[in-house]
Amino acid sequence: MMKEQVLNLLRQQNGYRSGEEISLLLGVSRTAVWKTIRQLRQEGYTIEASTHRGYRLTREADLLSQQTILEALQAHELDRWISQVVYRQTVDSTNLMARRAAESGVADRSLFIADQQSNGRGRRGRTWFSDSGLGLTFSLLLRPAAEAQALTPVTLFAGLCSALALNELLTNRQAIGIKWPNDLLSASSGKKVGGILTEVIIEENRVDALIIGIGINLNNSCFPADLQDTATSVLVESKIALRRVDVLCHVISQFAKRSHEMANPQQWLAQYRANCQTLGQPVRILTAGGQEQSGTAIDIDANGELIIADENGQTHTVRSGEVSLRRL
Ligand code: BTN
Repeated sequence: MMKEQVLNLLRQQNGYRSGEEISLLLGVSRTAVWKTIRQLRQEGYTIEASTHRGYRLTREADLLSQQTILEALQAHELDRWISQVVYRQTVDSTNLMARRAAESGVADRSLFIADQQSNGRGRRGRTWFSDSGLGLTFSLLLRPAAEAQALTPVTLFAGLCSALALNELLTNRQAIGIKWPNDLLSASSGKKVGGILTEVIIEENRVDALIIGIGINLNNSCFPADLQDTATSVLVESKIALRRVDVLCHVISQFAKRSHEMANPQQWLAQYRANCQTLGQPVRILTAGGQEQSGTAIDIDANGELIIADENGQTHTVRSGEVSLRRL
C-alpha cells in the first residue's frame, strides 16, 4: 500500500527525503506522493515539508486499536474496573453505540471508543467535530442503582474528572479549567478543548443506563471556519502532544477512584469550584425558551445548579442542560 511505503521511506531516513526521490523509488508521480503525504497528515502523522529538502516524519500517528486500548487499561490496572471495551475505527457516535448496547443489556462500566465519529453529537442538538487520529472520543456506560434525580450533578462530576486527568498529564497543572456545567477550556485562551454529553436512559424513574460521552481535542491544529474562534486543542495551547490512550486511562482512573462519590456532590464540589472558570464571571444565560438573563456567576449549589446574581442583587438558579452560557 502506497501510504505504508511512503511512511517506511520516511522512517528509514534520518532527516528530509525529497519528493522526487520518493516518487522515483516508488515509481509514482510527485503529485501522488504529495496526495499520500496529505492523507498521512490527516491520519495524525506529523510530516514537515521544506521546499528544497522534501519531507521529514517528526511524529508517528497516535493509532488506536482494541489491543492498544486493552494494554493501556491493563498498565493502569483498570482492566478489571472496565468490564468491556468496544472499539471501532469509525462509528456514528460513541454515545449512540452505548445506547444501542444498553438496550441489549451490556454490563455496567462498559467503554465505547472510536477513532472517528461520522455523527458526533454535542449538547443541545449540536454536532461534535473531531479529526481522525487527533482527538479522543469515547463514552462510558454506567448502570448505577440510583433514582433519576440523584444523577443531575453527574455531568459536572464528569467534567471535573476530565479536567483533573488532563492537568495531571500537563506541566501546567492548571492548564485546563471547566466552564459550567462541563466544557473543558484552556485556562490561558478561554477556548474550548473538550465537551461532555451525558445521556440517561430512565425506566420507571430509575436509571437504567447513564452514558457519559467525552470528546477532547488533543493534537488537532486546524478547525473548521465556524469553530476557529472558539475551539482549540491541548497541543495548540500547551505544545504538548498527549497520546490518546494515556488521556483515556487518566480520565477513567479519575472515575474509578471516585465513582462512589459521584452521586454525592458534597465530596467533590469544593474541588469542582476550584477548577471552574465561570465563577466570579459576568455571564449571560440563554434558556431553551429564548429568554435571557445576565448577571454574575456567584456559586454552584449542592445540586450542581449555577447561581447567578443580577444587577439588583437578586439571585437566580440555573439548571444545566436547558441553557446556553456566554461570557460577557
Ligand atoms: C458538547 O460540548 O457539546 C459535548 C460534546 C460531546 C462530544 C462527545 S465525543 C464522544 C461522545 N459521542 C458523541 O457523539 N458525543 C460525545
